[in-house]
Amino acid sequence: MKKRYVQVGTGGRARFYYDAIATTYKETSEIVAFCDLSQTRMDYANRRLVSKGHPAVPTYHYTQFEQMLDETKPDYVIVTSVDRTHHDYIIRAMEKGYDVITEKPMTIDNEKAQAIIDCQKRTGHSLRVTFNYRYAPHNTKVQELIASGVIGDVYSVHFEWLLNTKHGADYFRRWHRNKYNSGGLLVHKATHHFDLVNFWLGTQPKTVFALGDLNFYGMKNAEKRGVEHFYARAYGSEYAKNDPFAIDLTKSQDLKELYLDAEKDSGYIRDRSVFSDDISIEDTMGVIVKYNSGAIMTYSLNAYQPWEGFNVVFNGSKGRIEVKVVENSYVNAGGSQDDEGKAKSKTITVHPMFGAPYTVDIEEGEGGHGGGDPVLLNDIFGTPVDDPFHRAASHVDGAMSILTGVAANKSIASGLPVHIKDLVEF
Ligand SMILES: NC(=O)c1ccc[n+]([C@@H]2O[C@H](COP(=O)([O-])OP(=O)(O)OC[C@H]3O[C@@H](n4cnc5c(N)ncnc54)[C@H](O)[C@@H]3O)[C@@H](O)[C@H]2O)c1
Repeated sequence: MKKRYVQVGTGGRARFYYDAIATTYKETSEIVAFCDLSQTRMDYANRRLVSKGHPAVPTYHYTQFEQMLDETKPDYVIVTSVDRTHHDYIIRAMEKGYDVITEKPMTIDNEKAQAIIDCQKRTGHSLRVTFNYRYAPHNTKVQELIASGVIGDVYSVHFEWLLNTKHGADYFRRWHRNKYNSGGLLVHKATHHFDLVNFWLGTQPKTVFALGDLNFYGMKNAEKRGVEHFYARAYGSEYAKNDPFAIDLTKSQDLKELYLDAEKDSGYIRDRSVFSDDISIEDTMGVIVKYNSGAIMTYSLNAYQPWEGFNVVFNGSKGRIEVKVVENSYVNAGGSQDDEGKAKSKTITVHPMFGAPYTVDIEEGEGGHGGGDPVLLNDIFGTPVDDPFHRAASHVDGAMSILTGVAANKSIASGLPVHIKDLVEF
């Protein structure tokens, strides 16, 4: 019997799941319905399914979510809608008796996380959060090294994540730029990073202090740098043609069909200027975290960098591990993008306390998110195998990964440290 899935939220990320179901996992899985507020985006998803040999499926307006569940009776609900709505669909699906797979972040604040935790306890249904970065071979290797004790007990972590002027800028063009929708980058994006630290160290956050600002994007900052011309959105704007931060929705057929053509039934503008003045998230963030294990982390996230990737260092009782991962080496604004990703690199170096440093071999993984995406898909839709790294993430992992960012948001607002135990009860 094939496993039957419904999917709520049929935007850009949704394809990752329904494409895999329609192709690699077609023998074991099938999509049985889509739900979204945009009929245009659901029609796009159906055209794509058909192009991959899967039959088109019934579509349900977001106001018909329960009706969809009643009529299709799936095995799982996959949630790939905007972050602000995740908790709502997770809870409504569990209350009606279904197991759920959700994209990150599990949700965006502690009240919503508490509601999910309570609902899970009440209903006993499972919730899986799809942390693809755990499955990237280099990230799994770091966990393996630390667990094997090569650097002993980890006392501190220094973690810097860089988002570039293309991917980083994208969070400032659309719904993510309102904290109300995404929880800001400390939740929306850093949920991946804080989950990795929890996973690498096998611990959970205890106390968080943070500072953050909007220093680069936004109108005020652009004015300070002498930008002369402003516009609301790129489509139809002469000024946008000279803005390396603008996205042209007509340049890609997928972007056009998913977003430009769907404006009529969703009101979703995908190509806003990153230099307009209604942005409520930060682009420059620093966080200090104390973990239950005793480790201390200094973390920084900046969203306007020339390259994309991360540096992370672990200092332990027997030595130090240094990791550098370049996901995209540079952005060639206005020029050919063919070369941009070519200088990707990953290095893990172990520095024993009294020995010569050595580099660690990393398996090369194909696919998105450092090779994590296909391994995650296999773990969800493929034949289950025992995972020695225990990478499948539960609602507890989902909650612990957002709580660092939620606490950081509260700390930025109050100027005070925040204790995780004051945010949710398990
Ligand atoms: N793990 C990853 O690497 C990764 C990558 C990209 C996106 N994501 C996650 O996937 C989710 C979707 O992101 P995206 O990039 O596809 O965004 P998107 O804007 O392309 O798509 C969001 C979709 O949600 C729909 N939607 C909005 N409000 C809704 C509602 N009330 N009910 C139902 N549907 C609603 C929109 O119409 C749209 O189709 C986000 O939670 C994001 O964090 C994860």
